[in-house]
Amino acid sequence: MSGASSPDAAYLDVGYLDAAATAPLRPEALRAMLDVWESGQANASSVHSPGFRARELVEGARTRIARALGAMPGEVIFTSGGTEANSLAIVGLALARPRGRHIVTTAIEHSSVLESCRYLERVFGFELTVLPVDADGLVDQAAAAQALRPDTTLVSVGLANGEIGTVQSLGELADSARELGVTVHSDAVQAAASLPVSFGSSTAPSAAPGAPAGVAPDPSAWPGRSVDAITVASHKFGGPQGVGALIVRGHLQLESIIHGGGQERGARSGTENVAGIAGFAAAVAVATGQIGSAALALMDSRDELIARVLAEVPGAALTGHPSERLPGHASFTISGVSGESLLVALDTAGVAVSSGSACAAGKSEPSPVLLALGLRDELAQTAVRFSLADPLAPETLDRIIRVLRSEVLRG
Ligand SMILES: Cc1ncc(COP(=O)(O)O)c(C=O)c1O
Repeated sequence: MSGASSPDAAYLDVGYLDAAATAPLRPEALRAMLDVWESGQANASSVHSPGFRARELVEGARTRIARALGAMPGEVIFTSGGTEANSLAIVGLALARPRGRHIVTTAIEHSSVLESCRYLERVFGFELTVLPVDADGLVDQAAAAQALRPDTTLVSVGLANGEIGTVQSLGELADSARELGVTVHSDAVQAAASLPVSFGSSTAPSAAPGAPAGVAPDPSAWPGRSVDAITVASHKFGGPQGVGALIVRGHLQLESIIHGGGQERGARSGTENVAGIAGFAAAVAVATGQIGSAALALMDSRDELIARVLAEVPGAALTGHPSERLPGHASFTISGVSGESLLVALDTAGVAVSSGSACAAGKSEPSPVLLALGLRDELAQTAVRFSLADPLAPETLDRIIRVLRSEVLRG
């Protein structure tokens, strides 16, 4: 995924292991954005030739993203990123279709999901059921089956967790919810960037433009039609930050949360980020085009990293599911050493990682996700996460092990 040329970018190529926070920018995304800016940006709502050209770029990007993710272009609503798309999904779907005032989610959702649910609880009197997960981060299916009620309006369960890498099947919960007529949303921000995700509404006869042939998503693929809406974010695919999308079935009512000029068919007002959207589409096309082969290479590297950390670093334990996990994701607790000090020591050695979710960076409390797995506070504070965009070079792996061992021994 390299291709950048500045000294800083060269550093990123060596030891940037924080792709789950933001993946390195793909050269194709950079090129697409530069093309927009160099040709002169215009407002996609303007009624003149530059405006029509901007509109064409936005609609072309919408079609490209829809095809790559098995959706119809009309189902894609551009937003300012994953956080906004999750907020729009939770608040917009729940307020537009009040089958009742009950929402179901899980204890390990991203804060943009949980806080949106809590907002509905606080301001609109919704009731919230937060499903527990087991020690690997899988939703407790028995609790899930009990949770649905006649007044349940929305179920929101993420496809994969960014902090611990666990991938959910959704399966039974989503199917039962849909049978009852409950709307199902899934945060696919982490999953869609590295696993074959399909919204299941288009057969995508050929691969997304620009991608190698034969990689079109299978319309029956995961999570397919078992969900009504999914969230994706550009910067996890290697596109620019600050742009994302909610993909939502056309028949569903959605109450807008940002009011104004009525862009995005009234669902999300605000001038479209034309260059960002073009970069987003380029990144999605490349990422989804390579997903099978990239995932296999990442899994090998991830498994080697996990095996060596567990074997060579005293006190290390894996967090998240051992096999049902994102391809490039390895997260640990390392008993007796703070995650912050591990992060600093690794950074000093030229390896950039996270000590918890970057979206919650700056907070010193233990991660709610790790506590939901049943970890005690002190152990949760020792978390460190490696998320790979490319397979690890052997020297980088050796360096990681050296740094972790020396931090533990200094302890
Ligand atoms: C699972 C998940 N959902 C949502 C988000 C938020 O996306 P964004 O950073 O685009 O606001 C993140 C960010 O890490 C995430 O991991």
